[in-house]
This record gives sequence, C-alpha cells and structure tokens, in this order.
Amino acid sequence: MSLTTARTVTDLRDRLAPWRKAGERIALVPTMGALHQGHLSLVTLAKSKADRVVASIFVNPLQFGPREDFHRYPRDEVGDLAKLEGAGADLVFAPDKAEMYPQGFSTRVNLGDLTEDLCGAARPNHFDGVATVVTKLLLQCAPDLAVFGEKDYQQLLVIKRLVSDLDIPVEIIGGPIVREEDGLALSSRNAYLSPAERATAPLLYQTVFEVAADLSKGRGADDAAHAGRFKLEAAGFRVDYVAVRDPETLKPLSGPVKQARVLAAVHLGRTRLIDNVAVPLPTNR
Ligand code: PAJ
Repeated sequence: MSLTTARTVTDLRDRLAPWRKAGERIALVPTMGALHQGHLSLVTLAKSKADRVVASIFVNPLQFGPREDFHRYPRDEVGDLAKLEGAGADLVFAPDKAEMYPQGFSTRVNLGDLTEDLCGAARPNHFDGVATVVTKLLLQCAPDLAVFGEKDYQQLLVIKRLVSDLDIPVEIIGGPIVREEDGLALSSRNAYLSPAERATAPLLYQTVFEVAADLSKGRGADDAAHAGRFKLEAAGFRVDYVAVRDPETLKPLSGPVKQARVLAAVHLGRTRLIDNVAVPLPTNR
C-alpha cells in the first residue's frame, strides 16, 4: 500500500511541508473511520477542489456521552486505509488518544446556543467535543479547505461558525448526503441495526422528505413537523425531534415557509439515526 499514515502531529506537518512549499492546495476530510461511500464521496469532492487530500481517522472520545457508544463504535483501520487509497487520498492522519489529548489537556471549544438545540439538547457536550477536535485538526493540518457532510447538518453549521468566529483561514465545504437505494442515509452506525430495524429505518428518510414536500405545498411548519413525528412514533421509532428550521441559523420556523431545512433524530432499538433535507427539495434526486 502506498498511502502513508501519519500518527503524530509532527509527522503530519513534515509530510505536508513539501506540498505547501510547492504551492499545492491541501484539503482535509475529518472522519471517525468505519468508512462508507458517504465518507468517500467527501474525498472525491475534496480531490476535485484541491491538489492533495488528507483524511483523518480518529474516534473522538470527547464527543461521546458517558452512556453512548464510544467503546463499541465500529473500527476497521485496515479496511479504511484500503478504501481511502482507492478513493485517491494522499495522506491519512490517524493519531491515537494520547497524541490528541495528552495528559493535562483541558481546553474546550464551546459555541453556546447553536450547540444546545436539536442534537445538542439530546447529547449534552457533544458539539463541544466535535468543535474541540475539529479546531485541533484544522490547526494541526492547516488545510486550504475542509469537507464535511450535510448528513450531520447541525455539525456542518457548528464548524462554519467556529471557523468564522476564530478566524481560522480555511474554506468549509459541505457535501451532499449519500443514501442507500432505499433512501436510508449511509452511516457507520447502520451496522448496529438488526435486519428488522434495517427494514424499518428508511421510514426516517421517507418522513423527512414527506415533511419537506408538505412544506413545499404550503403546509405550516408546526403542522408538518407534528405529522412527521406522529408517523415515526406510530412505526416504533423513539423520536428526539422532527424540526423545521432556518437553513443558516437553525432557528425555529412556524407557519408557511419558503426556504428551510427539515431535520430529524430518532432512536430505533439502541441505534440513534439522524437525517435532514432541504426545502425546496433538491431537484437532482
Ligand atoms: P463521521 O461520522 O465519521 O463522519 C465524517 C464525515 O462524513 C462527516 O462530515 C459526516 O457528515 C460525513 N458523512 C457521514 N455520513 C455521510 C453520508 N451518508 N453522506 C455524506 N456525508 C456523510 O462526523 C464525524 O465523523 C465527526 O463528528 C468528526 C467531524 C470527524 C469529528 O470527530
């Protein structure tokens, strides 16, 4: 395998230096591994906009709650490296926990409001953990651009906010959600689903699309979101939220809307799933 893996920040910077000296544009694609086509689509997008693509693999303990799935989160570094090489990544940064969070590490990046709502309400401190690790990755790699998926729409907005607030000189680019044939958004956590749950799971996608279609027909935001929640609960999902929000600020919207994002988070058995879609609906479905 020709793809190189840097394990330390020093090694990462040493490998980036000649590229930077040659004036090459560098893109970063942060991940937690267990890679699927959704992650790889971000590598492809990054390659189309940069000369060099660095992918990071780090299951970040700071963003998991005490009762969440940090320990059972899927890990497959050998498989991931082969997939990244196939997708054309130039370098992998895969630090261990001691490299990222050495003894005495105590800084947190906290954004307030935007991180306390929606997924942040259900997962306290989650976005502080994401913001902290992404800030570190951006400072360690200093890429010209970094690519994140719209699958984690609130996360994408959190990252855009922190980069703007902290004057980090990087362009943040969002990539579209990659889905299975039946509409289920690809996720490393889909591996947790039993066959029966896997058969039910696409209803999440169907519901957010239905809410978006209802909004496009003029149905009020509250009404459409309630109908979505009811449909999911009737099918056996435990619903964290079905929400219609401003696509830039994530502030709640009610009544008829022109531009919005429909977002939902649910539990199916012991698996948490999220999905979202734009209003108006994307035309290239
Ligand atoms: P992870 O869940 O591994 O996702 C890495 C990137 O892949 C994120 O930007 C995510 O939005 C994107 N992604 C996941 N599924 C996708 C899909 N079906 N279609 C398109 N993009 C998809 O998100 C994280 O890791 C972490 O929070 C991280 C940003 C790496 C910080 O630890």
